[in-house]
Amino acid sequence: MLDGYHILTLTHRDAPLETIGQLVIPGDNTPATLRALKARFGWEELLYLSTCNRVVFLFYSAAPASDDLPVSVLKEICPHLSEQVQDAIADKMRLLHGAEAVRHLFEVAGSLDSLVVGEREIVRQLREAYDRNHAWHLTGDHLRLLMRFTIETAKEIYSQTAIGEKALSVVALAFSAMQKTGLAKDARILLIGAGQTNALFAKFLAKNGYRNVTVFNRTLEKAEHLAATLGGRALPFDALEHYSEGFDALVVCTGATQAVVTPALYRSLLASETSRKTVVDLSVPNNVDKRIVSEHPVHFVEIESLKTVANENLAHRERERLKAGDIIERRILAYRELWHERQVERALAHIPDEVRAVKERAVNEVFGKEFAELDNAAQALMLKMLNYMEKKCVAIPMKAAKAVVLRGKNSKSAKLV
Ligand SMILES: NC(=O)c1ccc[n+]([C@@H]2O[C@H](COP(=O)([O-])OP(=O)(O)OC[C@H]3O[C@@H](n4cnc5c(N)ncnc54)[C@H](OP(=O)(O)O)[C@@H]3O)[C@@H](O)[C@H]2O)c1
Repeated sequence: MLDGYHILTLTHRDAPLETIGQLVIPGDNTPATLRALKARFGWEELLYLSTCNRVVFLFYSAAPASDDLPVSVLKEICPHLSEQVQDAIADKMRLLHGAEAVRHLFEVAGSLDSLVVGEREIVRQLREAYDRNHAWHLTGDHLRLLMRFTIETAKEIYSQTAIGEKALSVVALAFSAMQKTGLAKDARILLIGAGQTNALFAKFLAKNGYRNVTVFNRTLEKAEHLAATLGGRALPFDALEHYSEGFDALVVCTGATQAVVTPALYRSLLASETSRKTVVDLSVPNNVDKRIVSEHPVHFVEIESLKTVANENLAHRERERLKAGDIIERRILAYRELWHERQVERALAHIPDEVRAVKERAVNEVFGKEFAELDNAAQALMLKMLNYMEKKCVAIPMKAAKAVVLRGKNSKSAKLV
């Protein structure tokens, strides 16, 4: 039974990215917040994923999840929001159970639910999210098994359909939107943040001959590394407030959950220049204070504004989505069986240890005196026989359990025929 799997999620399909941004847990608080959530709701395992177009809480709980979970979770992670706002966001969240939750996860991993359908970035994000949550001791066997199967499902979708062929990415769309603002090749570009997303953006800059780039980042080494790929300069994040050389384009993307480019910082970065600037903000939530856009002449590019282009991309891939859907349905059935087998395996996992303990008790305690009186050759023969018995006794229940699983499989496939 897959009933223990649940997903609570808010995605670009149901809410603007600004709303999704409100649910992103600030970096440093993430492990503590997630541990508190897990304890508060009695979940056995938890995985939290935040990308530019969704926030996902995937959890395993044998107890059913109640319908008011969205609002209860929001109270925990966004206590600063008013009750009215919490209710409005909760209304947009989806709570999925069992096979529906598994299906959704497969769709996310196969990029069927992405803003840009077919982009493979999501597989990396999922893998990294799993590794992080695992390192925080939030996951266990149920999510380990599901994650492994999910990644395999995604690989099958990408290899057996053309969904990922010539796929665009959010970053590619943003770069193309930036170019359309007519930015000259020698434009002064300030890249704020040196994470995965800006590193990808930098590749487009380099490929298209933009070299006049200054990278700002909290960790200077990462800025230096990225700047080197562009033949640009690197400066620490704090240097932004004293930067006085002006700019033509700002590309901002960090993991901060509040604006890092405030109106005051923007004014200072302008260095008295009045020309129209290009501002690209790829962060969710936005890292550029929106007042800047209304108070200054700006070509503003953010992920929300790329949704229309992304939808055109979706229309081209409709046939491949259907093929991927078939793969997903087949994989859900396969996962159901795998999960069942794994439960049998786990239920029997203690048997070898218990049989060994019986043998040792017999030799050392129950028949300890008699055993000690035997000569060496008799003791060796006795131990050989007991070891043989131990091996055979362990195998009996394992064999029986496998036969039960096999009978179950055969009767299911007979029903399907
Ligand atoms: N991955 C994607 O495909 C994708 C696509 C579009 C948008 N996004 C969005 O891009 C943002 C960043 O994602 P990412 O994958 O690039 O993250 P990432 O690889 O973890 O990098 C995060 C970057 O943000 C910096 N940073 C984090 N917290 C900060 C703070 N409070 N103040 C200043 N700098 C801070 C980090 O600096 P240090 O190096 O010093 O830690 C690092 O440069 C997220 O909002 C994400 O939703 C991601």
